[in-house]
Amino acid sequence: MATRRHGDDPLARTRERMPVVESLRAEFAETEPLSGLMVGVASHLEPKTGVYLEAVRDAGARVLFTASNHESTHADVVDHLAAQSGLEPFVEAEMDQTELDAARRDLLAREPELLLTDGAQLLALAYASDVPTDQLRGVAEQTTSGVHRIEAMADDGTLTVPALAVNHTPVKHRFDNVHGTGESALANLMVTTNRVTAGSTIVVAGYGYVGRGIARKARALGAETLVTEVEPRAALRAHMDGHDVVPMAEAAPRGDVFITATGSCRVLTPDHYRAMADRALVCNAGHRAVELGVDKLRELAVATEAVGEGITRFELPDGDHVDLFADGELANLAGPYAQGHPAAVMDTTFGALLLAARSLVETDRTPGVYELPDELDREVAERKLAAHGVDIDERTSLQSAYENAWRRERLLANHEE
Ligand code: NAI
Repeated sequence: MATRRHGDDPLARTRERMPVVESLRAEFAETEPLSGLMVGVASHLEPKTGVYLEAVRDAGARVLFTASNHESTHADVVDHLAAQSGLEPFVEAEMDQTELDAARRDLLAREPELLLTDGAQLLALAYASDVPTDQLRGVAEQTTSGVHRIEAMADDGTLTVPALAVNHTPVKHRFDNVHGTGESALANLMVTTNRVTAGSTIVVAGYGYVGRGIARKARALGAETLVTEVEPRAALRAHMDGHDVVPMAEAAPRGDVFITATGSCRVLTPDHYRAMADRALVCNAGHRAVELGVDKLRELAVATEAVGEGITRFELPDGDHVDLFADGELANLAGPYAQGHPAAVMDTTFGALLLAARSLVETDRTPGVYELPDELDREVAERKLAAHGVDIDERTSLQSAYENAWRRERLLANHEE
């Protein structure tokens, strides 16, 4: 039997799993809501992002794209996009952080009118450097930490445009953060390091959307799960969900694997590293390597060794070792076999970003941070359900009236249906 090539499109297999983006792309190619606009996009440059960037371009925009992380760029995807009209790369796979920063400045110097960001670094750079920002009309941000950063810009009066907090929309964080990151971070870590989840003690720092996804999936696979938190309601939720909630000082000597999902910094300290069992594995699924306090781990260590499969082994003064995964960069996006979130999950996130971009153009807003309008969030979910062939019920007129009435008995008595 002959094996056929799957077309000449390297994104073809990914595209199959992104029906929401594909349906919006077809619609936007007709209506061109971003017609004539220069749009700057920063994202992890892998196949799913490629499908999304093509959709932004097909909406009528000229797309200037760069990476949100220098570790996660796929060269073949950049090459595939760069060969097309309307898509201009400001990134190369081999760039280090300094070179990537310079490329981002070059992108901003082209004066994009819309920014679609991941982590808000591009927006922060625009305001922190001397590139023009007067032409900016809006920004849509897809991550938790990025939205927090933009809120900080709004609070100190720096933000001059409306920002749509796409991360905060239900169709994003309830799926992408919980299932996308939760599943892909755990799967990539365990497959790459050839570890088994069942029977391991896994410490998850932070019980937000991401941490919840990781902890729930780890336990479902047979791990003992310890959760650390700084927020009492999140901690209570973890406790009621059946995880063992403890301070990190208590978790440190007990864990086999440590995964941070806080968006914060130095969640692990030298004291924690010293308390860990020999060859404990630490990785980050949240924001940056700073969550693991990698700088402090380097200061503490007396020797380091690359032991393969994305692991750097740090020897501590007492002779014990700590294994750091993917240099502390995102566990689902960095490392030798990383594939990021499953395409089916990014489909809804990128769908929400596409609708956010259209909304920023169509709707006048004063500078500030806004939720994605509810009807757009619903639209993404409806398109996804339709793609999966899932039908749901519709509220009857009686049910709608009942939910909004206070004389409910009278309402029911007067209705036959
Ligand atoms: P979230 O705000 O829902 O949860 C963060 C949790 O961490 C909160 O409950 C907070 O109380 C807790 N926390 C903060 N500092 C802590 C500390 N020192 N020790 C223990 N817990 C602490 O945020 P979400 O949506 O869960 O995102 C978490 C991080 O993951 C963010 O940085 C976000 O940008 C990132 N993220 C990463 C993705 C990836 O692809 N790897 C995808 C989505 C989000």
